[in-house]
Amino acid sequence: MERKEYRFDFEVYNHIDELSADDAALLQQARATTANAYAPYSHFNVGAVAKLKNGAIVTGTNQENASYPVGICAERVLLSAAAVLHPNVAIDTLAISYHNLDGDSNKPVSPCGMCRQSLSEYQIRVGQPMRLILSGMEGKVYVLDKADALLPFSFTPDDL
Ligand code: THU
Repeated sequence: MERKEYRFDFEVYNHIDELSADDAALLQQARATTANAYAPYSHFNVGAVAKLKNGAIVTGTNQENASYPVGICAERVLLSAAAVLHPNVAIDTLAISYHNLDGDSNKPVSPCGMCRQSLSEYQIRVGQPMRLILSGMEGKVYVLDKADALLPFSFTPDDL
């Protein structure tokens, strides 16, 4: 028997002002984009903004539905838009923010499990990692080098 370890590094910033100008601008856009969410049921507005390797900017927000399971997260809205508008172009950096209309929005939250699966496969299909910037409307900011760090032991196309 051998015991193995899974670990990953990420950067923690106390405030958006500590980021590079490019990262700060992207996070600021993600925060602003939360206003375009359609989340009348959860009141939890999520905004995602990606900078692609070709320089294009693609956005996504969560889109809920009165038939609750029909709703889709901001991250997967964004990935679908990116795939259609810029096929085969890798995402350099994806900033994700949220505005909880019923509570605080002052600490980073992570993408849900389904979105982690989608983010991981997006990296595989374009052959490049995407950086993640996670933060609420204020407060700390987490920066990850690659999205798949959030989903160890993921099911991949190679497993089929
Ligand atoms: N949501 C996202 O858009 N992204 C996530 O990673 C977590 C959750 C949305 C789904 C739903 O509309 C609301 O946030 C509350 O779960």
